[in-house]
Amino acid sequence: MHHASPPSPTLPINLAELEAAALQRLSPMARDYYAGGARDEITLGWNRRAWDTIRLHYRVLVDVSNRDPSTTVLGQPIALPVMLAPTAFHKLAHPDGEIATARAAAAAGAGMICSTLGTVAIEDIAAARPPETAAPLWFQLYVYRDRAITRGLVERAEAAGYQALVLTVDAAEIGTRERDAKNRFALPDGMTVANLAGTGKAALGPGGDGAAGSGLSAYVRSQLDQSLTWSDLEWLAGITSLPVLVKGIVRPDDACRALKHGARGVVVSNHGGRQLDTAPATADVLRPIADAMYGIDESCTVIVDGGIRRGTDIIKALAMGARTVLVGRPQLWGLALGGQAGVEHMLSLLRAELLEGMALCGCPDVASITGDLVDAAR
Ligand code: FNR
Ligand code: LAC
Repeated sequence: MHHASPPSPTLPINLAELEAAALQRLSPMARDYYAGGARDEITLGWNRRAWDTIRLHYRVLVDVSNRDPSTTVLGQPIALPVMLAPTAFHKLAHPDGEIATARAAAAAGAGMICSTLGTVAIEDIAAARPPETAAPLWFQLYVYRDRAITRGLVERAEAAGYQALVLTVDAAEIGTRERDAKNRFALPDGMTVANLAGTGKAALGPGGDGAAGSGLSAYVRSQLDQSLTWSDLEWLAGITSLPVLVKGIVRPDDACRALKHGARGVVVSNHGGRQLDTAPATADVLRPIADAMYGIDESCTVIVDGGIRRGTDIIKALAMGARTVLVGRPQLWGLALGGQAGVEHMLSLLRAELLEGMALCGCPDVASITGDLVDAAR
């Protein structure tokens, strides 16, 4: 006879609960690094609230008995329009680090974009996924001043089977996150920028005084190329066979320039409110950017991130022209709470909310999530 199983600890019912629980688990330095934004954290708050102000004009009496959230992005199939945004240093959340995150994304059929600044090397992340995984695995690139290092990263991503490059362009400097400055953010002993092992650039110690206290700011200032321009995008597109996306765009003119200079699309993003404070919320700039880009090239790829925390946020993003959304911090909350299982739980919450929202919007599939679902002014 079976004994009654012990009550399982209650799982968070939504991403806000997941965040609250994770914040209690993390060390103050990791918590502040993950949660924080630049300066007054105005954009950080706007990102979230902007989605809330958009109303969904749902359709009725549509057969939604079967809903299909699958779609394609850059021609690749994806089980739901969600990818994990590139986020640095996953081992601060869990000893398995990016290995756990990648396995969770694969299990959920969600995509993953690996940061240059991972605590696990990109080859090891790729090898940790089950061999038949179809979900996208892309590499986010920061351009080192040493172009040989940059080229090496690109070649390694190609060789390891990554299917696209995402060039982040909103981080010429690291925006000052005052929490990190005060904590003098540094990687704990045993953690490194794993992709840079053997180059002398894998260590990340504390920064200087005052607002310069974050070791990440010091690292970026000394190692990454602040002189990047549109011609460097052309350079990158020219040295790789992979499609290149540009991440960190908030203006239609820059989005169109990205296409002109060799990108296949953009990620509308303000880096989760971590770079220029008082930059606009991404939900407020997505529609005009998408309209301008599709006017130039119907087949280009528009992606958005920043404050996506609900299934209805995903529906709004798709309605306004995004092919998929990225989620940043929630993956770290899941990881902190339960490693791979925690990230899987986060993705299952988003998936269930998305399916519910699709039913209530009268959208049996992604193709039926069209612009008329959101306010006309959007
Ligand atoms: C980031 N982000 C980021 N972006 C990038 O291109 N390379 C990186 O290494 C990182 N690292 C990083 C670390 C942490 C802790 C956070 C929270 C974010 C930005 C990320 O890709 C994404 O744009 C935002 O996180 C999206 O906002 P939300 O979903 O966190 O609100
Ligand atoms: C950050 C960098 C690493 O946002 O992109 O912390």
